[in-house]
Amino acid sequence: MTGQDTPRGIARNVTSYGDAEFSNYMRRAFLASAGFDAQDLDRPIIGIVDTSSDYNTCHRQMPEMVTAIKRGVLEAGGCPFAFPTISLHEILTSPTTMLFRNLAAMDTEEMIRAQPMDAVVMLGGCDKTVPAQLMAAASANVPAISVVSGPMMTGYWRGERLGACTDCRRYWAQYRAGQLSAQDIHELEQALCFTGGTCMVMGTASTMACLTEAMGLMLPGGATPPMSSGERLRHCVAAGRCAVDIARVERRPRDILTRAAFLNALTVLMALGGSTNAVVHLLAIARRAGVPLALDDFDVVSRRVPLLVDCKPAGKGYLEDMHFAGGMPTLLKALEPLLDLSAMTITGQTLEQYLRDMPPPGSWQTTIRTLDNPLGSTGALAILKGSLAPDGAVIKAAAASKHLMRHRGPAIVFESPEDAVQRIDDPALGITQDHVMILRNAGPVGAGMPEAGSLPIPKYLAREGVKDMVRVSDARMSGTAYGTVVLHCSPESAVGGPLALVRDGDLIELDLDARRIDLLVDESELAHRRETFTPPLLPTRGWRRLYAERVLPSHLGADLDFL
Ligand code: FES
Repeated sequence: MTGQDTPRGIARNVTSYGDAEFSNYMRRAFLASAGFDAQDLDRPIIGIVDTSSDYNTCHRQMPEMVTAIKRGVLEAGGCPFAFPTISLHEILTSPTTMLFRNLAAMDTEEMIRAQPMDAVVMLGGCDKTVPAQLMAAASANVPAISVVSGPMMTGYWRGERLGACTDCRRYWAQYRAGQLSAQDIHELEQALCFTGGTCMVMGTASTMACLTEAMGLMLPGGATPPMSSGERLRHCVAAGRCAVDIARVERRPRDILTRAAFLNALTVLMALGGSTNAVVHLLAIARRAGVPLALDDFDVVSRRVPLLVDCKPAGKGYLEDMHFAGGMPTLLKALEPLLDLSAMTITGQTLEQYLRDMPPPGSWQTTIRTLDNPLGSTGALAILKGSLAPDGAVIKAAAASKHLMRHRGPAIVFESPEDAVQRIDDPALGITQDHVMILRNAGPVGAGMPEAGSLPIPKYLAREGVKDMVRVSDARMSGTAYGTVVLHCSPESAVGGPLALVRDGDLIELDLDARRIDLLVDESELAHRRETFTPPLLPTRGWRRLYAERVLPSHLGADLDFL
């Protein structure tokens, strides 16, 4: 409800006792017990979504950030109220945080709606927290600004710079191949995550932070300052001040999350060589915002935007390099000819106004390139279609091996992530480097869509020096991972998608140039197999049952169908 008669501040969303005046009286009485008086409560009320958790190392310094945001709110004449929501840490949540992204989005949306606030600062960071918060913001449509916890700083091991978690995967692969000792891998374990903060490569957290800034829902320059920096805290203070401004002018998420903003986000995603997970998240956020966005949009943009940012896993640098090269403002300036400059930002400026006086990327750095001197070609992310994925699949071409971009090989099928764990290293399977490893029952309905798609190279092949193979699944892959990995095959196998029909030895063909992934089996044989398809058993209670029953396919964003 909006308009002049809508209660504001602490009188918003009163608890229902059948007497609004009494409800307000009660509210002020209870808040008096916490030290709030009329001078506090007559100001704009600014909610702060606090996703601190001892389980979430990526949000480790969030309490300090909340304090900084509160200071900004107070300076600007508002009254801050921090409140907790679900916190999701990628590595400490089983079986996968993706299963809980929509739950976090519901939690955040409902708490924004249920509690009195004129604007909200959403403080996230680790992979699913920011998409969940943007989904919530788009649905609640209360003035909202995003702040991220910021990336970790890089560390060193034996003179080599390293970070989470592209290097985790690289070193683990070397350990599996027998090239590192147990002592080596232990020392690395202690060095990979040098500070608090999100993974400092262009993984999902970094990608979503950059895309949020690109879409204008974050103050300029907010995506890349490391968590441990003073700049991160100054950004928090500024965001607190901005929250009071957007409360006063009622600048709402859907004023900002337009189709222009999403197309700008797609442009930035390609220039970053960003995470494949951003595809499913942007689709979900756009759907919540009522903006038409489809997989085909990603492919159209991908074909015209080159890779500009030199960060792992597509490049060799880290987020702090991107930050010291100028961060997102500099990247947006480099992309200016390809952006829709009419898009509105949280400050009330259009992108055109904001970029007008921005200098281009400096020649003193090499992390953020220009359109006439890109790091890589167009097509960093590609959308595939074909008989194995009629509704689409995704591949991070920028992190794939050139010699595998056109490949035909026999399938070796794993029925689930657990099956792969149990059997993949068994030499009796006779897997060769030409095989295409198929993983199924790992889509949204089948397993909540874990990041299981980048199956490890079988140990005995890794020891022979095999570093990459074609892998195909309905799962996702960590944004920090690399390899020739086809993901998000839709429809997924658990609902009878073509992946469910593949048998060991079937020929699979990947043709990246043609944007195709095909199962080379006669339709008559596939029809026969379809008749014998038996769906897997699904969860019978609680959130997991609701999720399996109501989740949309990945090519529509994997949100719940009623949200
Ligand atoms: Fe949180 Fe990587 S585990 S961002």
